[in-house]
Order: sequence, then C-alpha cells, then structure tokens
Amino acid sequence: MRKTIIAGNWKMFKTTSEAIELANGLQRELYKLEETVDILLCPPFTALSEVSEVITGSNIKLGAQNVYWKDEGAFTGEISPLMLKDLGCAFVIIGHSERRQFFGETNESVNNKAKAALGHGLTPIICVGETLQEREAGSTFKVLEDHVQNGLKGIEESAAAAMVIAYEPVWAIGTGKTATSQQAQEAHEYIRGLLAKMYGQEAAAQVRIQYGGSVKPENISELMAQPDVDGALVGGASLKVETFAQIVKKAAEVKK
Ligand code: PGA
Repeated sequence: MRKTIIAGNWKMFKTTSEAIELANGLQRELYKLEETVDILLCPPFTALSEVSEVITGSNIKLGAQNVYWKDEGAFTGEISPLMLKDLGCAFVIIGHSERRQFFGETNESVNNKAKAALGHGLTPIICVGETLQEREAGSTFKVLEDHVQNGLKGIEESAAAAMVIAYEPVWAIGTGKTATSQQAQEAHEYIRGLLAKMYGQEAAAQVRIQYGGSVKPENISELMAQPDVDGALVGGASLKVETFAQIVKKAAEVKK
C-alpha cells in the first residue's frame, strides 16, 4: 500500500516569522495524524532552517522547492543538494511548471536535478503536466510521456520507488479550476503505465503520484478516492493552517 503524501508548496510566500507561525500552527493541528500520512512542508529557501527547527521531532517533513545538481562550485545564486540535506530536507520539488515556464527549466535540467537529489538521499517530487493549449490539442498523454521518459532518463529501477511524481495540469494551477477526479485518475493511470514500461509493474506500483492544481478542502476527498491518486501537492491552500490541515485530515480519512 502506498502511503498518502500531502505536500504544501509555499512558493514565494512567507517571511521567516510568518513561516514559523504557519509551521507551528500546522504542527499543533496535525500531530495526531503523524503515522498515517506523510506531511511535507516546502517553504522558500530563506525559511527552511527555521521551519526545520519547528518541525524537528515531529513527523512533519521538510522539502525544498528547487535544487541545483552540483555539490558545490561557482554557481552564483544556486543551492546544492548537500546544503538542503544539511538543513534537514528530505524532499525536493523538481521541474514545477512555474520553473519550466519562467526559469527555463527543461526535461534535461529536471533529469540532472532528480539524479542529484536521489544521489544524496533526497526524495525528488518530479512535476509533470500539460498546458491548456496542449490539452485542447489532444496532446496531454504525449506531454506526459515526454516529461516522464526524459525527466527520468537513466534513473535506475532500484531508485524508482523512492521517487514521487506530481501530476499538475498547468491550467489548474492557481486558477481555481481543478481537474475532475476522472481527469486526474486518467492521467495518473497513464503515468503509472509509463513507469511500468520503464521499471516493471512492481516498481511502478510503489511510486506515489500526487495530484496538484487548485486542491482545496472541498475537492480533496473526491480526488483521493481515485485508485492512482496517492496524495496532493498543494499551493494556495497550503498557506493557511485551517485549509491545509483540513486537506491533510480529509486525505487521511479517505485512504484509511
Ligand atoms: P495551487 O498550486 O494549489 O495554488 O493551484 C499547486 C502547485 O503549483 O503546486
């Protein structure tokens, strides 16, 4: 059975003091659920250290929103996997559509980053998903194939089960438009099929696939009821204690 994983992607929100407040609030709300769900907070780099301190000793885990693939060097402005490990990160989001769209992220950089993360024992959350234009042109599956096959190129079967994939249709991110649970299931099933071709059924069955895109307390239960939806990557609704805590609790309830 795949363990449910709910991640909060705080994006470029929260100063350090605001981040501490949010992490403290979440810890108070969620400590009882610790064993049944992987709960993950991904604050901006500037607040990783403080949030790490707040959640130490609890089962809430820490993730970063990006990483570079070298351990160290003259790469001004970049952060290495070693540095993330040093701060207590266990996860890192890679290839989010905002990074692909605004910062020139490609399947190749996603691939380099995913390998570097795995090499340092960080679990990569690899984001894939189509734009509205691509969906309307009927190329959703082609885009998913491209993102999955090229993003994971050269990653060994033994590492496959340690990855998390986030299916995030770009048209559903921050727009209030959620994919229907059927659309999510269809994409997740397709992704698992791609993984099965690359790594075999057994490994594919272990990979957790999150849905992301306007997840809120009102739609999480229906999404989680789908057999291939193993969790959620939550943006906007992860910025408030009440909404994120509700999402985690409802998700735990569905997959009990
Ligand atoms: P959203 O963002 O929940 O605000 O749509 C999701 C994401 O980008 O990870």
